[in-house]
Amino acid sequence: MTEPFDVVDVIRAKRDGNTLDPEQIDWVIDAYTRGVVGDEQMAALAMAIFLRGMNRQEIGRWTQAMIDSGETMDFSSLPRPTADKHSTGGVGDKITLPLAPLVAAFDVAVPQLSGRGLGHTGGTLDKMEAIAGWQAEIPNEQIMDMLGTGPGAVICAAGAGLAPADKKLYALRDITATVDCVPLISSSIMSKKIAEGTDSLVLDVKVGSGAFMKDRDAARELASTMVALGVDHGVKTTALLTDMDTPLGLTAGNALEVRESVEVLAGGGPKDVIELTLALAREMVSAAGKPDADLEAALKDGRAMDRWKAMVRDQGGDPDAPLPVAEHTHDIVAESDGYLSRLDAMAVGVSAWRLGAGRARKGEQVQAVAGIELHAKPGDQVRRGQTLMTLHTATPERFDRAIAALDGGYSITADKPAVRESVVLERIAGV
Ligand code: URA
Repeated sequence: MTEPFDVVDVIRAKRDGNTLDPEQIDWVIDAYTRGVVGDEQMAALAMAIFLRGMNRQEIGRWTQAMIDSGETMDFSSLPRPTADKHSTGGVGDKITLPLAPLVAAFDVAVPQLSGRGLGHTGGTLDKMEAIAGWQAEIPNEQIMDMLGTGPGAVICAAGAGLAPADKKLYALRDITATVDCVPLISSSIMSKKIAEGTDSLVLDVKVGSGAFMKDRDAARELASTMVALGVDHGVKTTALLTDMDTPLGLTAGNALEVRESVEVLAGGGPKDVIELTLALAREMVSAAGKPDADLEAALKDGRAMDRWKAMVRDQGGDPDAPLPVAEHTHDIVAESDGYLSRLDAMAVGVSAWRLGAGRARKGEQVQAVAGIELHAKPGDQVRRGQTLMTLHTATPERFDRAIAALDGGYSITADKPAVRESVVLERIAGV
């Protein structure tokens, strides 16, 4: 087949700061998916985009081309409206687990087609797999049954057919220092979410040390780009910018985070996890036309828990089985009296990862039991010798490197620090 463009011209155009034509974008994504454009050429183009950027039209076309590279799902036959959530990833971010069944308790279908963790941020599927028997891979018919007539929520692996161009490109960006770039992140995330076919979407865009976006302006730009892409494709989209300077909740690590999520579903749990679960759930039920849903009541009276148990059982899991517990633990204690003034999300994330909660390479096994339990959060008063954190692992030879990751990752000061009251920093709505 004769190709209509020469990839070198496309790379050169972007390298020199020009706008790519829609036809060039369609072709380059398609040719990359077919293997006609090689990884080394796409890497050069990704770096040119990283350095030169893309305008909104280019990002929109790039996103559409990635959607067109694969199949799309269609939930329009379901008797319930669909609402989805996507988080840009953080430390201790277990929100999908209580959120999906909570929203489903109001007869809104929640398709959470999720991924695994890579690096210091955890993955939802890795967390769910801490539950005995639970299966991430399920056929499309089962997804439709669970959403339509079953529990109304499903957390499962995204099929390989959705936006295959993104799968290839994301793996390439990961090894060419081209991940943290607004046009490439926004098109990557939104191509998968739009291909999935949800009616509405809320984006949880993390800001801070443990997030892709370290500062608020960059996070705002990412959020508004993604919201515009969603709206342009007919998906009701809003975004919340939320704090990721410190871990969310009191746990980071797979089984530990499931335990904390179940506490929230039982009407308890840490304040920040409850706050964010409710804020995201409010966006989802409102987008589905149920703005007055009494979400707090559904956490307290067991309705959300019932949906959780049904959802876990439908995928072969036993929601009542005890969660695995680490054989080895190590306590980190306060060296002085004072206030915990800083607890860095990145340091805790890297430490949990080194304990075995995350993977360094695709396909590696993670430990269900590994992770970190926090006994104090920024603003809490602490006494010398008091346990600040407990490290958990199945393999104690990992402790030294995990402890080293926490070096400089927290501070104790004599004066009470000012702490953020709310984990939600800002809301960006689609028009
Ligand atoms: N998550 C994605 O799916 N894609 C990105 O580019 C970054 C985070």
